[in-house]
Amino acid sequence: MKTLIFFASPNKKGNTYNLVNKFIEGIGGEVDIVNVYDKKVSPCVDCKYCYTKEQCAIKDDMQEIYAKINDSDVIVIASPMYFSSVTAPMKAIIDRLQIYWSKKYIRKDRENLKNRKAVVLSTGGVYWINMFQPLEAVLKHAFAAMDAKDMEKVYAVNTDTMPVEKNEEKLKEAYELGVKIRKNLK
Ligand SMILES: Cc1cc2nc3c(=O)[nH]c(=O)nc-3n(C[C@H](O)[C@H](O)[C@H](O)COP(=O)(O)O)c2cc1C
Repeated sequence: MKTLIFFASPNKKGNTYNLVNKFIEGIGGEVDIVNVYDKKVSPCVDCKYCYTKEQCAIKDDMQEIYAKINDSDVIVIASPMYFSSVTAPMKAIIDRLQIYWSKKYIRKDRENLKNRKAVVLSTGGVYWINMFQPLEAVLKHAFAAMDAKDMEKVYAVNTDTMPVEKNEEKLKEAYELGVKIRKNLK
């Protein structure tokens, strides 16, 4: 079982990192982490190259990311909430998933569909009702493009006053989600 984690926080040892770390302890196995802030991924320019080709016209770090996605069984997007969504480099990667969307909906190519597992780990500084709804809508769409389903999630809120490293309940939830996915996918 190969788990691909998009780590989308600029803080290498921050709240999202602590949540991800616990999840990794739980899931074990082969884990590949993409530090999205270290990658050079240009925004999609809607050139429509992928309407006829299996690839993206832009040759950058996304090429290596496509290979990692294709090779994964579990995909985790771990991002702090920024203005109700994921962070900007993560959104650039999501928009470049257009090659998968085009395959299904423009070229109507339904070959080699996969059955991946989708996981969201996110953190927010404050709390308001339904605050993760916009982020979740974006990620559901992104996961669908990558054939990742049955989205599981762990959200830690109020990190301004309760950093994740001190939030035993959320750390446990992230760990237990990892364990659950490992057992279910065996
Ligand atoms: C540009 C920016 C936008 C943010 N937007 C939100 C937001 O919409 N809602 C929220 O609850 N917290 C927001 N935050 C706070 C972060 O989500 C929060 O501090 C998070 O836990 C940081 O995670 P990290 O330590 O992994 O970077 C924002 C922070 C920044 C820097």
